[in-house]
Amino acid sequence: MAYFPDTFLDQLKERVDIVDVIERQLPLKKQGRNWIGLCPFHHEKSPSFSVNQEKGFYKCFGCGASGDAIKFVQQTRGIPFEEAIRELAAQAGLPLPQEQRQNPAQAQAKEKRDRLRALLEESKRFFQGQLRAPNGGLARAYLQRRGLTAETISSYELGFAPAGWRNLLDFFGGGDSAIELMLEAGLLVKKEDGSVYDRFRNRIIFPILDSRGRCIAFGGRVLTDEKPKYINSPETPLYNKSEVLYALNRAQERWSRGEMALVVEGYMDAVMLAEHHLTGTVATLGTAVTEQHLKLLWQRTNRIIFCFDGDAAGRRAAWRALERGLQGLQADRHMQFLFLPEGEDPDSLVQKEGVQRFKERANGAYSPMQLMHKVMGEQLDLYTPEGRAAAVHRMRPLITSVADPVLRQLYADDLGHKLGGVSGAQLLYGGESPAPATPAWPGSTPYGEGHAPRFPVRSGGSRRAEWRNTIKNRGGWQPAQKPSWEQEVSSLLLGGEVRGRDFEQALLAQLLNDPRLLLEHQETLSTIQLKNTQLNQLLTELLEVGPDLQHLDQPFSIDQLKDGQSAQLARRILLEEQTPLDDPARELEGCMKTDQLRQLQQEMVAVNARIRQGNAETFKKDFDHLMQLKKDMDRLKQR
Ligand code: UTP
Ligand code: MN
Repeated sequence: MAYFPDTFLDQLKERVDIVDVIERQLPLKKQGRNWIGLCPFHHEKSPSFSVNQEKGFYKCFGCGASGDAIKFVQQTRGIPFEEAIRELAAQAGLPLPQEQRQNPAQAQAKEKRDRLRALLEESKRFFQGQLRAPNGGLARAYLQRRGLTAETISSYELGFAPAGWRNLLDFFGGGDSAIELMLEAGLLVKKEDGSVYDRFRNRIIFPILDSRGRCIAFGGRVLTDEKPKYINSPETPLYNKSEVLYALNRAQERWSRGEMALVVEGYMDAVMLAEHHLTGTVATLGTAVTEQHLKLLWQRTNRIIFCFDGDAAGRRAAWRALERGLQGLQADRHMQFLFLPEGEDPDSLVQKEGVQRFKERANGAYSPMQLMHKVMGEQLDLYTPEGRAAAVHRMRPLITSVADPVLRQLYADDLGHKLGGVSGAQLLYGGESPAPATPAWPGSTPYGEGHAPRFPVRSGGSRRAEWRNTIKNRGGWQPAQKPSWEQEVSSLLLGGEVRGRDFEQALLAQLLNDPRLLLEHQETLSTIQLKNTQLNQLLTELLEVGPDLQHLDQPFSIDQLKDGQSAQLARRILLEEQTPLDDPARELEGCMKTDQLRQLQQEMVAVNARIRQGNAETFKKDFDHLMQLKKDMDRLKQR
């Protein structure tokens, strides 16, 4: 960040008329000593935005926004302080302080960069002209076929480099000094024999602009399936691809108006999303997300959504972005990771599914915590202590890299909790501190000495083992003996009490994660009565609303839920239960079976109690009923 001395800033504020500055964006009316207008920072019908010209200050009595001309430019244009200063200084005709005290070498370098910029700007116009020229017919047809309208093509200033070795070269006259400058700008390629030719030939041209909208490089795409698909400008004094985001200059203004900040991988993706009015999109230029990228982004927005392909490469890229991003994460900075279905990129997906669906996907993208948990769950067996320990070791460097101490602690606690019975302190500092494990929410209870698996009902075998454990812990278990029916019933009942809500939450998690199950098992589900009234209410609502039939492969869209409490609960469950399921249908069956078992048990207990009362009249009927229940139960357990 450039340093501006106070004297310069004072001078600037004196020179700048805040009413002028604001009137570029909205009409103001003089009222008494002040000027008033409709506030640009919130929606209003009658003006509460007031500007004090003398003091150079604005304030909105509706939303409380206030500041000086610099802040106004920053906020309405979505640009950082330094750039707002540059803009205002340029408007006021005030030279920047660096420029005032440059040494000759600096001045020369600056002059060189200015000449390169001018050259690139003219090249950009040349390419734009070629796209409109008769020769550009094929290129225009190509862009049209890709689904771009003339409006988008012109606002992204796309162009066309015609076939031939020296179109641009000739355009600039082919003289020695032009050649030298063109080489330095990356527009020409030099052969070994010293001769030169145009770098971009027979390609669609994507001008790469810096955050101030100045052309610094180009990307060129073939019109066919030839390789390489893209040719890009090399690194030049103006262009370093790890420090540049394609389309940032356009996107940043949208971010300041609340549009979502999407980071995609391709030129085409950024332009196509803009075609669908997602103008807040930038693209990395064939590199992984760098720290400089993150810096550019955080200066301009506090919520970034990265889009990645759903394949292994996409996951690796997401992980790298996460590693880099965590360091700079702070309170109220949000970073999300959107994984697209395999084989799709944002361009293809938005055309296939429409922009509304794309926005929904983006809004539901993974948080850092969810991503960490997902990746750990994919790579390690978090059902075992060994797997969880490996996860702790793997995650420690990541979590400790979070610079914000509060956030670091919260992440540690949260992740430790998700892994099951690991405290935040253990995660951060190793096993040395004897901090007790944080209890899990809500109502999940430790299973004896071990830890609760996330989904207790994984298979009939292990559940049986759990009953045994339960009984063993109560001291009633003899290893050699098969448990009596009564023992089984009572242990089941006990298990039901202890673990009831776990099963229920697992059930809801599966339904939320895979709404198809709601359809498939609608009937059975509507007979289930959950013990936890909140979860039961959520289930009832899910069944009432039904899954969104168009998006069955996506988690249940929570916005559909009318009841605020249920929606909150659903969100929490989705956050908590992120472990991907191998076989959701079977998991659901397991959950439902458990629930049905519990209902049977309750009935059995009630009938049993009546039998014990010794009422001779009802005995026969009750006994038959009990036998029937027992048979049902056996049958259910066989399944
Ligand atoms: P993609 O292959 O995903 O291209 O590369 P794309 O942007 O989706 O383009 P279309 O849809 O096929 O037209 C993603 C990005 O990687 C860089 C470019 O920046 C591209 O936008 N890339 C890719 C290259 O620099 N060179 C290449 O040969 C390929
Ligand atoms: Mn593509």
